[in-house]
Amino acid sequence: MADDATTIPDGDARGRKKVYIETVGCQMNLLDSELVIARLRDEGYELTTDIDQADAILYNTCSVRQHAEDKIYSALGRIKNVKKRKPGVSIGVLGCMAQKDQGSILKRAPHVDVVIGPGQLGRVPQLLEEAKREGKPQLAVSLDRRAGTRETITASFEGYDPDREPSMRPSPFQAFVRVMMGCDKFCTYCIVPSVRGPEQSRPPGAILAEARLLAAQGVKEITLLGQTVNSYKHREGDGRTTRLSDLLYAIHDIPGVERIKFITSFPNDMTDDLLQAVRDLPRASRYIHVPAQSGCDEVLRRMKRMYSASFYEEMLARMRETIPGVAVSSDFIVGFCGESEESFERTVGLVERARFKNSFIFKYSRRQGTKADALFPDDVPEAVKKRRNNDLLAVQTAISLEDNRRLIGETAEVLVEGRSRSTTRREGWDGTDQLTGRTACDRIVVFEGPEELVGRFIRVRIEDASAVTLFGRVPAADLAGVPA
Ligand code: 5AD
Ligand code: SF4
Repeated sequence: MADDATTIPDGDARGRKKVYIETVGCQMNLLDSELVIARLRDEGYELTTDIDQADAILYNTCSVRQHAEDKIYSALGRIKNVKKRKPGVSIGVLGCMAQKDQGSILKRAPHVDVVIGPGQLGRVPQLLEEAKREGKPQLAVSLDRRAGTRETITASFEGYDPDREPSMRPSPFQAFVRVMMGCDKFCTYCIVPSVRGPEQSRPPGAILAEARLLAAQGVKEITLLGQTVNSYKHREGDGRTTRLSDLLYAIHDIPGVERIKFITSFPNDMTDDLLQAVRDLPRASRYIHVPAQSGCDEVLRRMKRMYSASFYEEMLARMRETIPGVAVSSDFIVGFCGESEESFERTVGLVERARFKNSFIFKYSRRQGTKADALFPDDVPEAVKKRRNNDLLAVQTAISLEDNRRLIGETAEVLVEGRSRSTTRREGWDGTDQLTGRTACDRIVVFEGPEELVGRFIRVRIEDASAVTLFGRVPAADLAGVPA
């Protein structure tokens, strides 16, 4: 059977192949997708947003909860037909789910050509090529965390950060920089240490070189990424140690960098030098994401978080004392194994007292291969998880609204990110020229203004607020000289 793929070369008239990518999951995955696309572009691919035009269809996946995996398996089911119509198309499953499910992905979805874990992403172009050449699927994953010495396992998770691809960023003015890979905390519910491998801090020289490159490309806001970013520690040969606070000082000195953030922090590693750096550096965002996960000591113990609820609250008090006005956000898991109504009420109490800017709330999802899955029954019924999720969210939303409304009348400095989606439209506005940006505390601000403001820092006077958005106005004097 002579199909098109054998008679017409792949790619367009100029011979450039097209790649389509979908990303699920966290900021780390967005960054990985950017790096994969950069590497493929070097190999002659160009990015397309039209899946029907693609020569390669890639899914960068997440396995932190079952829901994220279900989404990918159903997408893989849907594109079976694309492959039937166009057998030359390559299909790739990248990232955390590739590392977790490995060869079983090929059993469930035999039309997949490459399965590539997060520690092997630098090899995407070669593996796509090999799958074509050999006419069989390619599997590239790192070692299991129990399958060797720390050195051999670490070596199997390769870093490849310097390749950057501006067109893949949320905006041309904002970029992520990875400072750490992997995680060694092994919280009992979490799959991340298995799929992202051992904790490794990148050398400061590489991080700073990347930050300088980004600043030269016009990036104004840099967000440093790590699963436990405040555990960053790099020892030089001469015994000197670089910590996250040292990185903040060094990046602060790079001309062009106007705002620096870092996510996600671990409560036990919230050291004073870091808090003081955030306090003292005017370009450090006064915002810290530091998940509590639960407000009940017994649950925290079963999660192996290695702190108590009172330790967490004392840490919060220290943060607020050191950095006046700091905005703090958190993550919570509801319905974890053995979470009683009383345990849940303790979490509610913590959220009431902590006054987070916002909280991300998740229903516990069993992850095969984790300690929790092996040790504890998933005994909170789905309906109870759902109710606790809604209840906790309602408590947080009321607090967010109250705290946001307190900001009415203040003037905030905002980095303008782009046009606002119509869903955040302010009542009574016609929605034309609505822009969105963030304050130094990471609060979203929507206001009217010309598109020329995108990428600039401007002052916005806050006039109204919902739980997630502040609404404001740019003082007329500040708009003088900006083309309308
Ligand atoms: N089930 C539900 N939520 C989880 N998270 C991590 N693992 C699980 C799981 N098995 C949540 C945690 C973490 C966030 C990124 O995802 O709250 O901070
Ligand atoms: Fe997962 Fe815990 Fe590591 Fe965060 S600190 S990535 S929750 S194991």
